[in-house]
Amino acid sequence: MHLTPEQREQFDVEGYIFLTDLFDADEMATLNREAHRIFALERTEIVREKDGKTARTAFAAQNYNEAFRRLGRHPRLVAPVQQLLGGDVYMHQFKINAKAAFNGDVWQWHQDYGTWSRDDLMPEPRAMNIALFLEDVTEFNGALMFIPRSHKGGVIEAGHDRQTTSYPLWTIDDATIARLVDEGGIIAPKGKAGSAMLFHCNLVHGSPSNMSPHDRTIVYLSLCHVDNHIRRFKRAEWIAHRDFAPIESLDDDCLKTLEPTP
Ligand code: SIN
Ligand code: MN
Repeated sequence: MHLTPEQREQFDVEGYIFLTDLFDADEMATLNREAHRIFALERTEIVREKDGKTARTAFAAQNYNEAFRRLGRHPRLVAPVQQLLGGDVYMHQFKINAKAAFNGDVWQWHQDYGTWSRDDLMPEPRAMNIALFLEDVTEFNGALMFIPRSHKGGVIEAGHDRQTTSYPLWTIDDATIARLVDEGGIIAPKGKAGSAMLFHCNLVHGSPSNMSPHDRTIVYLSLCHVDNHIRRFKRAEWIAHRDFAPIESLDDDCLKTLEPTP
């Protein structure tokens, strides 16, 4: 998986690249099955929605689940990020977001680097996300929304919202969002399971709640250049990782060779 000069240009100008058919249906079925098994576990790393029951996000599953351990080292995800960030990367954060049918709550407008710089003292925006759809994303099940080009203005002022959802987030005010949308519009990439969105860590994004009967599970690898590792260890290790060793990718068929879980 190698990005073309046109794709790199699009990432620089627009702040994202959307890739379809990056993984096949069998690979996604395996991971999605594992994701739903994880959501049913009682573990500290699994954050629930405000109802206290529905899984919202499961952090650090690469550390205890073999399928996600392999995904975190998958060359189809890691190589394009190494290319965009210009060298070795480590895993800053790994999360599976559930956005469950009927009960999956909103993610307010924010920049990920806003949190990584304020909370974790990550020196530069030399980090990014690759978000892989484990289930089809449609106009109904809480698709991610992005404001193209919003990464160009650096870190935007934000307030720490501890009220709206069960997960505290540095969020951007309505007037700023209105101005950015005037300038860049909004996109909401939809696609089959196996599609992936690479996006700049300063690209403003969020997602509405899911009132449809269809789950929308997405896994996020937040990868950071090894020289740009975080300097403050305020958040739990399972949210903001402290292993800065470069990721060594596995073989391209690593999900195909996984033994079925009993
Ligand atoms: C996020 O921005 O961290 C999550 C958004 C989502 O999964 O809808
Ligand atoms: Mn985010």
